[in-house]
Amino acid sequence: MSDGTTTRGTSSAAQAGLSNLLHEERRFPPSAEFSAQANGQPDLYDRAAADRVGFWEEQARALHWDTPWDTALEWDAPFAKWFVGGTLNVAYNCVDRHVEAGHGDQVAIHWIGEPGDTRTITYADLQREVAKAANALTELGVQKGDRVAIYLPMVPEAAVAMLACARIGAPHSVVFGGFSADALASRIDDASAKLVITADGGYRRGAPSALKPAVDEAVARTTSVEKVLVVRRTGQDVAWDDAKDVWWHEVVDRQPDTHAYEPHDAEHPLFILYTSGTTAKPKGILHTTGGYLTHVSYTHRYVFDLKPDSDVYWCSADIGWVTGHSYIVYGPLANRATQVMYEGTPDTPHKGRLWEIAQEYGVTILYTAPTLIRTMMKWGEEIPQGYDLSALRVLGSVGEPINPEAWVWYRRVIGGDRTPIVDTWWQTETGGLMISPLPGVTTLKPGSAQRPLPGISAEVVDDSGNPVPNGGGGYLVLTEPWPGMLRGIWGDDARYTETYWSRFPGRYFAGDGAKKDDDGDIWLLGRVDDVMNVSGHRISTTEVESALVSHPKVAEAAVVGATDPTTGQAIVAFVIPRGDAAAATAQGDALVQELRNHVSKEIGPIAKPRQILVVAELPKTRSGKIMRRLLRDVAENRSVGDVTTLADSTVMDLISQQLPAAA
Ligand code: WT7
Repeated sequence: MSDGTTTRGTSSAAQAGLSNLLHEERRFPPSAEFSAQANGQPDLYDRAAADRVGFWEEQARALHWDTPWDTALEWDAPFAKWFVGGTLNVAYNCVDRHVEAGHGDQVAIHWIGEPGDTRTITYADLQREVAKAANALTELGVQKGDRVAIYLPMVPEAAVAMLACARIGAPHSVVFGGFSADALASRIDDASAKLVITADGGYRRGAPSALKPAVDEAVARTTSVEKVLVVRRTGQDVAWDDAKDVWWHEVVDRQPDTHAYEPHDAEHPLFILYTSGTTAKPKGILHTTGGYLTHVSYTHRYVFDLKPDSDVYWCSADIGWVTGHSYIVYGPLANRATQVMYEGTPDTPHKGRLWEIAQEYGVTILYTAPTLIRTMMKWGEEIPQGYDLSALRVLGSVGEPINPEAWVWYRRVIGGDRTPIVDTWWQTETGGLMISPLPGVTTLKPGSAQRPLPGISAEVVDDSGNPVPNGGGGYLVLTEPWPGMLRGIWGDDARYTETYWSRFPGRYFAGDGAKKDDDGDIWLLGRVDDVMNVSGHRISTTEVESALVSHPKVAEAAVVGATDPTTGQAIVAFVIPRGDAAAATAQGDALVQELRNHVSKEIGPIAKPRQILVVAELPKTRSGKIMRRLLRDVAENRSVGDVTTLADSTVMDLISQQLPAAA
């Protein structure tokens, strides 16, 4: 970070963007009407500041505990244990207790398939489905502590499967359905998953998209999987191995629809979720039971102002990401939300699909990503204006910094100039929301996530770890443990300590650059490590580079995230071909296409580079480090910055000359 590899957060482009940001002076105070009914009140901040751990205990009491905890927090930095001695069951908290309290007939999930088929699932239905699935898992030999991989489209069985795992205490590892067989295999392997839950396929962009073949390939390459449980969704043909494969409808449907739950220790592993780091190997982020559920239900209740009796909540994420775990499954269900779950893409069968759904179901709270908002801006505001969105009362944003223009558009066009917008900063590692306004309390600033939530302690520090004054910029750190924090990296405590706790000892280093404005509000500026953020998804430059160099025609590769008007960042790769460079350049487009498809196959379509430039050399420092900063200048069409630390300062001229032939 101190040499030529300086990245987005501190690059000159980011600095320019930053000064624009800090001139953002529009303010949106809460309406008196909203404030009067808001779950969050200003005293939350005072109470949390007066007794932070006690405040979290108060939040934990909103859950049902089978055994109360003895000690709220044991902090042996960087290892935390929350609610020590307490026991609870996550599935009971998310489902059964609502039924027992008389809400069995309340809709938990309004599910909409992409082709237009729908399912309405009440809390009583969900209770029966989860019980049957839990019984089926037991029949298939899954025991408490065994890992289960879930590779499903956005169908209700995804939530049911997660809850069934939670119920029996088998940690799940959900793998996004858009990831490749390779990515799935490495995740199955890393966690030694015993069972994989998948589907024949799901609907994407108007057509069935197969999932089972990737599972077959992954299972063939790994040794831990005993059974594959397959949901029939599309009806497409699947290869079948009688020794391993079982249909969901054959095994789950015939199970008893009651299941006696076992309370689990507050620190029992709930799930592992893999995320990209700065090396090619994704990290298995480990979350546990009591602290995690406390954190996600508390934040969901206050930040989205959820009223379980009247709201219709919709988070448009996929269950394969942490947003889907925390704000589709665990937070909303713990809070007895009624929610919408949609299987497909926003433009199928037409570009008004999301707004049509929001109108039809009377959605009141919408949680989505800046990339989607910018896509909608591009498609034109007349599309959402064709629908009645007047039920909306809170809008949320997550995944990447939201530029003020997108924020203001979101509020005006989608929110009818009336709804608060909560820009929520958090990470797979944090488990739940960390920095966000509270609707009804905070005067909103477009583009800023503003303040740490009550109970959360964050700071912006300089290179030596000193807090920066208001108006200053640096790195975002979290200064106190919080209940939803990761408990480690699966099987790699050393990497956990090294990645998050060594840059600023005693504090959690998030990997994001940030600035504090004159009021002390926080503005997130993007990653400061070699991690890209494409449409709100984290992808490591090294992961894409290693996919590229695994292709026989590639000698070397360097990847950068270039600013993109829709996806936030886009992947741009510079590739040195093997052998005769001139011949490779002559292959031009064919080679570029081949390599793009190769990356897509190795990692998944989300990692497909937007551009691949075939070059003869890469800019390197004398110590051999690739200077991504210069490549980013090229990728973003800027004049190339300071080249004095290059081993060979003519390399950049060479690259620039080659440009027109590429892409
Ligand atoms: C990274 C975490 C958290 C769920 C989705 C992504 C970026 C996330 C914001 C925001 C600015 C944001 C950060 C963070 N990020 N939300 N509101 N403003 N940046 O989870 O894949 O773990 O990625 O996403 O860079 O470190 P993730």
